[in-house]
Amino acid sequence: MEKPKVVLGVSGGIAAYKACELLRRLTESGHDVRVVPTGSALQFVGAATWSALSGHPVSTEVWNDVHEVPHVRIGQGADLVVVAPATADMLAKAAHGLADDLLTNTLLTARCPVVFAPAMHTEMWEHPATQENVATLRRRGAVVIEPAVGRLTGVDTGKGRLPDPGEIFEVCRRVLARGPVAPDLAGRHVVISAGGTREPLDPVRYLGNRSSGKQGYALARTAVARGARVTLIEANTGLPDPSGADVVRVVTAVQLREAVLKAVSDADVVVMAAAVADFRPAEYAEGKIKKKDNQEPAPIVLVRNPDILAEVSAERATPDQIVVGFAAETDNVLANGREKLLRKGCDLLVVNEVGERKTFGSEENEAVVLAADGGEIPVPYGPKEGLADTVWDLVSARFSSQA
Ligand code: CTP
Repeated sequence: MEKPKVVLGVSGGIAAYKACELLRRLTESGHDVRVVPTGSALQFVGAATWSALSGHPVSTEVWNDVHEVPHVRIGQGADLVVVAPATADMLAKAAHGLADDLLTNTLLTARCPVVFAPAMHTEMWEHPATQENVATLRRRGAVVIEPAVGRLTGVDTGKGRLPDPGEIFEVCRRVLARGPVAPDLAGRHVVISAGGTREPLDPVRYLGNRSSGKQGYALARTAVARGARVTLIEANTGLPDPSGADVVRVVTAVQLREAVLKAVSDADVVVMAAAVADFRPAEYAEGKIKKKDNQEPAPIVLVRNPDILAEVSAERATPDQIVVGFAAETDNVLANGREKLLRKGCDLLVVNEVGERKTFGSEENEAVVLAADGGEIPVPYGPKEGLADTVWDLVSARFSSQA
């Protein structure tokens, strides 16, 4: 079988050295990689490195090997183009269709999925020009993954770091696995909650639950690969940030509600995968609660938490916004699920049966997705990413029927 052909575009940022690691991962996992750096990228990492690691000649200009028409052929023959790092300048050129070197020509001729992994200083990333260019590229079907937050060149820290090469590789792997189809969530903003809330009793104790957050993270990773802008609101998961998603951290149900309501104002779809505590202690003790000899413990009085899913479903930011809930049930799974779907007012409800090997902490899941229009889609036991993709298939079908 022929190896999948990947073009690795490298533009001129200090993170170019990290693209060597991405290149290695791609070649070692059986991809035929052609590196197309820009002239500025070669200021950071030389042509000899790219050529030796890829096993292909390297050129930045359209004027080499003209008889092979490289400015057209490289893009046309690719199964995937990934630009890492993508500088603000590269995003601007790509958004406006400029073609003044081999990489920008390649981007114009490629008909395969294109992934951009931006890296730049926070100010450049946040500049309205860059944000509009990113929105344009996403609307046209490119996968633009959100930069990571952390140390930048020099002493500054902030948003703009190139995500970990291993994570970019995973995005590429998922995009390639979907084949030569346009990313169906391109241009969409998806908001996902994940993990389990903690309701503090005192500075050292809380009421919590066993949700690991893995299903919500699988939803975030797969949505990135399908082209979405992803806001992941995570509660107490301790999991590493998934590449390409904007991550907001919360602890309690009240904080989760606040973060969700803020994020949903321009969301196309909201997925509440988090396990939200229904109740919280009525009182929070500022100091650690101490036991007293010969005294029974005081009962914990609880008050209700807001129902975020019901609120988001009832007050949709737009009539077309799609709302998805999750439910973990121990018995009467389908009947309870149907009742919950109705009570919460969401469009889809993913119902799991809680049991051994399934749900909490596991890498696998098995579920039935109930739809408000009566649909019932069984998802067989398998990796949580498989269930995540089924959810996105159903969401995507709803977007298509809205169009
Ligand atoms: N949920 C929410 N806010 C809450 C409780 C739950 O948004 N206060 C959301 C969860 O994120 C999940 C869905 O509602 O998507 C179902 O959660 P579940 O705990 O099963 O629902 P409950 O209303 O608590 O139902 P039950 O009576 O089974 O406890």
